[in-house]
Amino acid sequence: MSPNLRAFAVHADIALGASLPAVQQAPAELHRAMHYAVMGSGKRLRPILVYATGNSFGAPLPRLDAAAVAVEIIHAYSLVHDDLPAMDDDAIRRGRPTCHVEFGEAMAILAGDALQALAFEVLAHDETPGIDSKTRLEMLRVLANACGSQGMAGGQAFDLSAVGQQLTAAELERMHVHKTGALIRASVRLGALAAGCTDPAALDALERYGHCIGLAFQIRDDILDIEGHADQIGKTVGKDAAQSKPTYPAILGLQASKAMLDELTEEALKAIAPLGESAADLHDLARFIAERES
Ligand code: IPE
Ligand code: IPE
Ligand code: MG
Ligand code: MG
Ligand code: MG
Repeated sequence: MSPNLRAFAVHADIALGASLPAVQQAPAELHRAMHYAVMGSGKRLRPILVYATGNSFGAPLPRLDAAAVAVEIIHAYSLVHDDLPAMDDDAIRRGRPTCHVEFGEAMAILAGDALQALAFEVLAHDETPGIDSKTRLEMLRVLANACGSQGMAGGQAFDLSAVGQQLTAAELERMHVHKTGALIRASVRLGALAAGCTDPAALDALERYGHCIGLAFQIRDDILDIEGHADQIGKTVGKDAAQSKPTYPAILGLQASKAMLDELTEEALKAIAPLGESAADLHDLARFIAERES
């Protein structure tokens, strides 16, 4: 990861820490579970996207904090629920026991619920100058849409109902575009909204970029489930095949999946080329997504 992207991740960690309820505050067990879910060793890719996008249009980082924190908190909640026995039944996440293994299923469900609510509270409550109320309402709508039935939760429903099924390439793309792509696209949109970007050509370019890297991100995740190393990805390897999950490698094969990942990355880079040097961090991020080992 480039030094700029790493700096965004550090900034995100500080903003996240400041947004969570204190662990000593009652109900302490729930607050501990929320901290545990958010503050592990995540890559912070979604907040980095908010910062990189907003910053490319000149927004100072503090103006982007609420959106960055909100998307990462939604992501953390989605991982807690994704790991539950009723879903992927995973025991390891970010190199340590999953939230339900550590705190029990009931507390993990509640931590996910409370994190989802907290994300919207953070975004709604933000009073940093530079974003008017109309834009803030639009940001809330964008985030809600990205996590609901037309976004992440919908994608998780496609994922669960596809277990053991032979999906077509179009159905597989629809699943990935919802379950992972929606929040990644929203991260880009929120960064642009918070920065006050209204140029239709730039917004179109970012939309295309977000679509391509969102899909690329999940294809890389599917590939790492086969070729990754448990100590690097911090998750159990080989779970998708063991659970008959429809993934890109399962349906297209590994080689074709890698070719598609490369194509999507090139398309993402092409989309933001007109934005020039100001989009250098977005450029680095697309490359990172395609090449990441964790
Ligand atoms: C994992 O996301 C879940 C998917 C959407 C594929 P990340 O790979 O971004 O997980 P962390 O946040 O770095 O742990
Ligand atoms: C998870 O996809 C997507 C969401 C959490 C919304 P996966 O189930 O492939 O993610 P990992 O591999 O468990 O991180
Ligand atoms: Mg899953
Ligand atoms: Mg999973
Ligand atoms: Mg996976």
